[in-house]
Amino acid sequence: MSSRTQHSILDLVSLEKEKIGRLFSTADQLALNPFLPSKGFGKTGALLFFEASTRTRMSFETACAHLGVYPMLLDGKSGSSLEKGETLEDTVLNVAAMKPAFVVIRSGDDLDFKALAAKLEIPLINAGWGKKGHPTQALLDTYTIRKHLGKIEGQKVLIVGDARHSRVAASHLELAKKLNYEVAFCGPENFLPEASEIKVFHSLADGLQWATVAMALRVQLERHQVKYSLEDYRKNFGFTFENLKALSADALIMHPGPINQGTEMDTDVLQKDSRCQILDQVSNGVLIRQAILLEVLGGL
Ligand code: CP
Repeated sequence: MSSRTQHSILDLVSLEKEKIGRLFSTADQLALNPFLPSKGFGKTGALLFFEASTRTRMSFETACAHLGVYPMLLDGKSGSSLEKGETLEDTVLNVAAMKPAFVVIRSGDDLDFKALAAKLEIPLINAGWGKKGHPTQALLDTYTIRKHLGKIEGQKVLIVGDARHSRVAASHLELAKKLNYEVAFCGPENFLPEASEIKVFHSLADGLQWATVAMALRVQLERHQVKYSLEDYRKNFGFTFENLKALSADALIMHPGPINQGTEMDTDVLQKDSRCQILDQVSNGVLIRQAILLEVLGGL
């Protein structure tokens, strides 16, 4: 690995625990002052979002603004030469040839981030890669848990919903081993991961009684061959006031977004349950992503 690409974040298996601690400390400092001195002024950073995003894309844009970095933004495929048949990989290589300080990419499984990172001379940050992983989301989630519950070690994170198709769930499985928290899944059978060693709850009430953090995922019904009634889903696995009675008063309610209100989470819960920290997750996303970019740019 060259010194220029050592700051790539493709997954959480290869991110050292010590570096995660450093990112969290930098995020703590940024929470007090987001305009810490940076070596970003006059530099560019490429933000290539080949798939839709609101939170991740705009938090990286905000982080760039705080750091004085100009974001070279590709937002979706329309309006770029992808429409003329240029490949995703060639698009990335051509943008990288303009010498940004880093490239942040969201795409489907059809782009091989690992092969691409080996060809680049700049760090590549995974901003959501197909079903494989969403490392910055898991980092901001754990940062949020640490902020509200004091520590991440020993927490019991129940991920409810479409874990089988979720890159967020995949990244939490990686991060849990590193930061010593437990992850369990709950949902209809065909939403659950297939690996046998993963802890699952078939009853939401049982899972919520176990959990210190309850995280709902977006139901991705478009991916399922066997359709599940949304009404049944809400009744059995939805975060409704009624269902959430099983969750401790001290626990956190989270969601990476976007939310299908009235399916995996009721609007009332989102707006009125004091355990809900979903908008704080979004605020912390800016801090974590800015901390990552600060490291890429050469630290504080
Ligand atoms: N959580 C998340 O990745 O949201 P966006 O798709 O809006 O970026």
